[in-house]
Amino acid sequence: MSKKDTITLIDNSTGKEVELPILRPSNGIPTIDVRALYRKLGYFTYDPGFLSTASCSSAITYLDGIKGELQYAGYPIEQLADHSSFLEVCCLLFNGELPSNEELTEFKNIITHHTMLHEALKRFYSGFRRDSHPMAIMVGVVGGLSSFYHDDMDIHNPNDRMIAAHQLIAKMPTIAAWSYRYANGLPFEYPRNDLDYAANFLHMMFNKPSEAYIPDPFMVKALDLIFILHADHEQNASTSTVRLTGSSEANPFAAVSAGIASLWGPAHGGANEAVIRMLVDIVESDHDIQHYFDRAKDKNDRFRLMGFGHRIYKNYDPRARIIRKTCHEVLSKLGSNNKYQELFDTAMELERIALQDEYFVSRNLYPNVDFYSGIILLAMGIPLNMFTVIFAVARTVGWISHWNEMMQDPESRIGRPRQLYIGALPRDYPKNDK
Ligand code: ACO
Repeated sequence: MSKKDTITLIDNSTGKEVELPILRPSNGIPTIDVRALYRKLGYFTYDPGFLSTASCSSAITYLDGIKGELQYAGYPIEQLADHSSFLEVCCLLFNGELPSNEELTEFKNIITHHTMLHEALKRFYSGFRRDSHPMAIMVGVVGGLSSFYHDDMDIHNPNDRMIAAHQLIAKMPTIAAWSYRYANGLPFEYPRNDLDYAANFLHMMFNKPSEAYIPDPFMVKALDLIFILHADHEQNASTSTVRLTGSSEANPFAAVSAGIASLWGPAHGGANEAVIRMLVDIVESDHDIQHYFDRAKDKNDRFRLMGFGHRIYKNYDPRARIIRKTCHEVLSKLGSNNKYQELFDTAMELERIALQDEYFVSRNLYPNVDFYSGIILLAMGIPLNMFTVIFAVARTVGWISHWNEMMQDPESRIGRPRQLYIGALPRDYPKNDK
């Protein structure tokens, strides 16, 4: 290791120093390996929210927040959006390479033939309140899958891990659609093997015994695109949750259930639902957009402009650009009098104002993927509380690919952050009787 590959940290109080290696990524920002810090100088690092901390190394997804670039295994998201399909992207994320035609056919076949749920799982649903948020049902039912796949699974066996990935990718749309069916008092609709992934999901959502639902190929393609764009985003809150949960060698279905819980929050996957609520509020309040900007800028108000800002992107989220175009195409197909056009126009107006507003410009706050995706989902007939569920269906492949990568990584250890203790010093329990 040459001097150029290290950074020297000097403790000014003791004069002691430590030389820390600089790790060079294949792309992106060099990273200081601080593992020797505690051993050699007796210090921890402090980084709430992991603003400057790489928690692992990964070869799955790369994103450059300054340039606004996103790649899955090196392939730009724009090219995947134009030429790939969600199931092909699943292969890419899990295996690191695009599949051959034969491999993709085999993968599709496996996924298609694992979409059914164990009949006993159906009974889980009736334990939930009818008015439960479907994300609550997802957390419970996916966690419950671990009881079906536990004793026979060896998480240290790559083949068993792959089977777990297949089960999750295949069953997630069924679990998701059934959470909607249950809440709406509709009979559970079984998957159909003659439909592809996105079409099958729409079928399980909307088919009725009394009225056949025929998925519109245009909407199917738009949904497949939404799945592609949400499939992975490196070490975000939910993926880090899955890794942390899985690092104790927990059951992967339980780990993914923890990821779903993390995704649910409005600062993460729940934002797509919050965006629509905000846009509807604006439309219903007679377009008082300025009022929403004033609130977003007011430090005493917890309100934020939903769908704006991102921890990593300090530029336009490349997924938002793709999805804005698709949103426009979907609404054009529905015709100029469609009832979602006003929401889209309001969103465009918000974006236009924000991109010129000093507060948003100086903080690099741009629309993120959630800003336009909800309008497309509404146009498909998907109810608001299912938006984050759809995000979870798409992100499942990202979660399980990261779990699989972590399980193979010789450097991975149980996740166990340190803390800066600021509580009471040791003290004696009071002797007097209370
Ligand atoms: N509206 C108004 N102000 C905002 C917004 C927003 N949407 N986002 C960030 N800011 C402000 C903050 O108040 C802060 O201002 P300050 O420097 O004066 O204190 C500054 O911008 C930086 O914000 P942070 O909260 O430090 O940024 P962080 O990286 O922690 O948060 C986050 C990112 C959570 C996404 C945030 O931008 C946000 O809450 N956005 C709205 C929710 C949203 O759209 N989430 C979806 C994210 S994408 C996804 O999960 C798929």
